[in-house]
Amino acid sequence: MYDIPVTLAATLKQKPQDETKLGFGKIFTDHMFMMNYETGKGWHNPRIEPYHPFELDPSTMVLHYGQTVFEGMKCYRRADGGLQLFRPRDNFKRFNVSADRLSIPQFDEELALEGLKKLLDVEKDWVPHNEGTSLYIRPFIIATDPYVGVKASSTYIFCIILSPVGAYYAHGLAPVGIYVEDQYVRAVRGGFGFAKTAGNYAASLKAGEMAKAKGYDQVLWLDGVEQKYVEEVGSMNMMFVIDHKLVTPALNGSILAGITRDSILKLAASMGVECVETRLAIADVFKAAHENRLQEAFGTGTAAVVSPVGELCWNGEKITVSNNEIGELTKKLYDTLTGIQWGRLADPFGWIMKL
Ligand SMILES: Cc1ncc(COP(=O)(O)O)c(C=O)c1O
Repeated sequence: MYDIPVTLAATLKQKPQDETKLGFGKIFTDHMFMMNYETGKGWHNPRIEPYHPFELDPSTMVLHYGQTVFEGMKCYRRADGGLQLFRPRDNFKRFNVSADRLSIPQFDEELALEGLKKLLDVEKDWVPHNEGTSLYIRPFIIATDPYVGVKASSTYIFCIILSPVGAYYAHGLAPVGIYVEDQYVRAVRGGFGFAKTAGNYAASLKAGEMAKAKGYDQVLWLDGVEQKYVEEVGSMNMMFVIDHKLVTPALNGSILAGITRDSILKLAASMGVECVETRLAIADVFKAAHENRLQEAFGTGTAAVVSPVGELCWNGEKITVSNNEIGELTKKLYDTLTGIQWGRLADPFGWIMKL
């Protein structure tokens, strides 16, 4: 057991009345989990506090050198009103992997989980009820030394904030159009593509804006060396159904080890689908499409769970996937995984943690 004192907010915010208008990442709850790190003292003072802004010295290291990591997961409300998490230990494990890459000291994953559970107990009424809604959980760590100079900080803040989020697909699963980026790259092997850190997302903004201007929803990144091999999409891992096999880029150090990716691979295998993790050339994806061997394509990630891809554009050539409709396997995987996450279906994998 950990000692995690709670200071309650004196006044509470008004909770959103209309859960169809929640959107994503705009509303935050009344409290947050915090702890601090200091060299010599380690991580200390875990606590729940009222949600409040940070006061940071303008020289605070994270503002200049980006020494920061984050995570993203969700708390789901079941039909019986109870709450549950999906693979939270895997998120905290990945958080420490990211932290290590950014020279941020390791934290106790069980303490972080206890802190999260305590925060959720305080904030349980913030978990929305409508179908497809959830409470998004954003743990993050920032380097806080007031110092202008490149080195690892000796102080950090660990924080967890919560945000009620709407159904990703208000009007049913809708296929997206994807632009295969051939100018910019997001990450390289040996860099920190596998870490959930701010720089990866900052590096992606410009290409994202350019793709949007061309009418596409997301960017598909190719490898940073030859710009030949599929990496991942925005904040999703990428999957293709080619010759009725589920094919996805192998974890090579430059893409994030998505927890949804891993869950989809395990689910598909349990359904008897052959899964292939490989180095996948974009040219081979287009070739498969030309030969009518590309049956489906979709992204996987915590926010959307599964996002069907209806169109891909690469080198000026457009291909349509599954007639710009939701593929059969895509739909089955989406229904099964969301069924487990929201407690509508049994969880034979041990992924659910009931609160
Ligand atoms: C770059 C990137 N890739 C993939 C994913 C999907 O990961 P997960 O399934 O754990 O949400 C995310 C989202 O967290 C991401 O930011």
